[in-house]
Amino acid sequence: MEKILVIDDDKMIRKLFSLALTKAGYNVIEAESGDAGLLLVHSERPDLVITDYQMPGKNGLEVLAEIRKLRLKLPVIMLTAYGDVVLTIKSIQQGAFEYLEKPVNPETLKSTVIKALSSVKSSNSLTTVIRTDASSESMLEDNILVGRTPQMKEIFKNIGLISMNKVNVLIQGETGTGKELIARLVHFSGITHNKPLVVVNCSALTETLLESELFGHVKGSFTDSIRDKKGKFELAGEGTIFLDEISEISLNTQVKLLRVIQELEFEKVGGELPIPMKARIIAATNRNLEEQIKLGKFREDLYYRLKVFTINLPPLRERKDDINDLVIHFLYKLNKRFNKNVTKIGDGVIEMLQQHDWHGNVRELENTLLQAIVMSKNDVLEKENIILNYRMAEPVAKYQEMSEFRTLESLEKHHIKCILDEVNWNKVEASRILDITRPTLNAKIEKYNLVQ
Ligand SMILES: Nc1ncnc2c1ncn2[C@@H]1O[C@H](COP(=O)(O)OP(=O)(O)OP(=O)(O)O)[C@@H](O)[C@H]1O
Ligand SMILES: [Mg+2]
Repeated sequence: MEKILVIDDDKMIRKLFSLALTKAGYNVIEAESGDAGLLLVHSERPDLVITDYQMPGKNGLEVLAEIRKLRLKLPVIMLTAYGDVVLTIKSIQQGAFEYLEKPVNPETLKSTVIKALSSVKSSNSLTTVIRTDASSESMLEDNILVGRTPQMKEIFKNIGLISMNKVNVLIQGETGTGKELIARLVHFSGITHNKPLVVVNCSALTETLLESELFGHVKGSFTDSIRDKKGKFELAGEGTIFLDEISEISLNTQVKLLRVIQELEFEKVGGELPIPMKARIIAATNRNLEEQIKLGKFREDLYYRLKVFTINLPPLRERKDDINDLVIHFLYKLNKRFNKNVTKIGDGVIEMLQQHDWHGNVRELENTLLQAIVMSKNDVLEKENIILNYRMAEPVAKYQEMSEFRTLESLEKHHIKCILDEVNWNKVEASRILDITRPTLNAKIEKYNLVQ
């Protein structure tokens, strides 16, 4: 029978877990503090540990670190307070198998335990324990990533994993889904946190300028190069270079980039000395790179070099359960920025926001809230102040379907007829709605041969 150690200072939780897990056929032992738990790890050799984070004495992360020293492969499940992203990332970085948010549902508990126990053999637990200094802590706070939907939780876990390894990462997602934010988190939450993060927007520059921007140039290599210039790869050093909108680089530059990745060195434009490349590359795109490959616009070999690890950010309309938390997050942020105090959410506001399509994703939500906050006169986020931008779905197709109304005149004729029918040909009413005078309305009825 597999043995599970539950460490929590809360007696009720220990009892609840003990009951659920004993019923599921496990042998459960309990400890009320981190120190007591560590002794049991030694003497009882459990197969799995579930530990609370917040406890007097050693906290869950400290317990986890000690366990890693004692027994490398013992799986640990961390219990965290609801929505604590920073802690989640840290626990996964330090090798927790999984984290569970309180209150824990017994079914989730059981399925997580089963997964953890069966993964022991193929355990990929990380063993490196990172030290985060104060400045990177605050960078983490600034780059808060909100999300509680299963898709986002998976992403948090992946950030925890990849931030401890300098693998190249490709982040894909529609505009405004948070690609840059994720890139920052990967950089600031892991081994690169005290190294430079250099951002390059690949779509903003012409081919020649982009190459000199990336690799640097030596004096005189082209017309305005009056002195040597360091490129972004050099500036990134052992940190991260974030190549935003990677799909926009030319095929020529793609070849050069591929060479840098393969050979781990590059030359300045016009220069000959190779410079070693030590930075991690994070690339982002809102285009489908596989399609670009089919179109011959993106090199397949480069694609595979970049996507050693891929993060696919789902559009906001596929994770509407995150909207509530995002609204709270942005209200907090925007209130501070605009010195406002909008702290309440009006009835039906969240429902209304959840029904919207958000083609501009989280950025569109942020901008919508910004507008609403600026317009608000009290401390409530009101429906009336929220202006949603609707985008006509597939506008081209829709317009082609409306082929009988291609000219403005045909549209006007149609519209006037509809309004007249709506008010039963009451011309006073119709001219009021159309905001034209009665003689004008009569003239138009005559011009378009409208009949009742
Ligand atoms: N999950 C999230 N939690 C909190 N803020 C978020 C989240 N996702 C995005 N944001 C915020 O939304 C805005 C847009 O995000 P970001 O710039 O990272 O998007 P992007 O995917 O890079 O967009 P684009 O493709 O247009 O460059 C930023 O202000 C960012 O902080
Ligand atoms: Mg971006």
